[in-house]
Amino acid sequence: MTDIILHRVLPISKRLISERVQSGETVVDATAGNGNDTLFLAELVGENGRVIAFDIQQKALDATKQHLGELAGRTRLILDSHANVREYVDGEIGGAMFNLGYLPYSEDESIITTPSSTIAALDALLGLLKKSGIITITVYDGHDGGSEERDALLAYIRTLHQGDVHAIRYELLNQRRNPPFLIAMEKMRDFTEVRKVADE
Ligand SMILES: C[S@@+](CC[C@H](N)C(=O)[O-])C[C@H]1O[C@@H](n2cnc3c(N)ncnc32)[C@H](O)[C@@H]1O
Repeated sequence: MTDIILHRVLPISKRLISERVQSGETVVDATAGNGNDTLFLAELVGENGRVIAFDIQQKALDATKQHLGELAGRTRLILDSHANVREYVDGEIGGAMFNLGYLPYSEDESIITTPSSTIAALDALLGLLKKSGIITITVYDGHDGGSEERDALLAYIRTLHQGDVHAIRYELLNQRRNPPFLIAMEKMRDFTEVRKVADE
């Protein structure tokens, strides 16, 4: 019996993104890291699509470029914070992925995603996302600063109007050693600025 439905977080995030991203679209990898999600997205959008991938570390973008191989041509690698995504993306995007925390296999685990830039990027990406598009966020909260980012992110998401965005949390409860959990968000209607529940 190999037919698993309750996959781990990473395959589920890819499956959700695949459900909605169309060939030829522009998508965003908000945290390129070693480029695993960037490569997945580059394959998904096809030769006429575009992946815009952010990281604040040059070594992450170098690793991503190497990982992409011949698909690097479909990808724009940006050495800047994802909080500035609107400076680089003007049209609609088909989807976006985040993978929070520090660069895996790096000597410096102190360079981490932070609440303010993660939330600023998410807020901007929700505005840029096509209707019915999906944003996935893989959240690691076991490192220093991880629980603060988790709490701030969940608090921000809870303020979002349900008519604009549906947000879910998915996690494998019996996975040991600081497992990640997944937040997935689906855009329910066209908008460019998110509404907060308190704004009603
Ligand atoms: C968990 S790693 C990403 C892993 C990646 N998805 C992969 O497939 O290898 C998180 C990455 O986010 C990057 N990062 C931290 N703050 C950032 C920011 N404000 N904007 C963009 N990237 C950031 C880190 O440098 C790190 O490489």
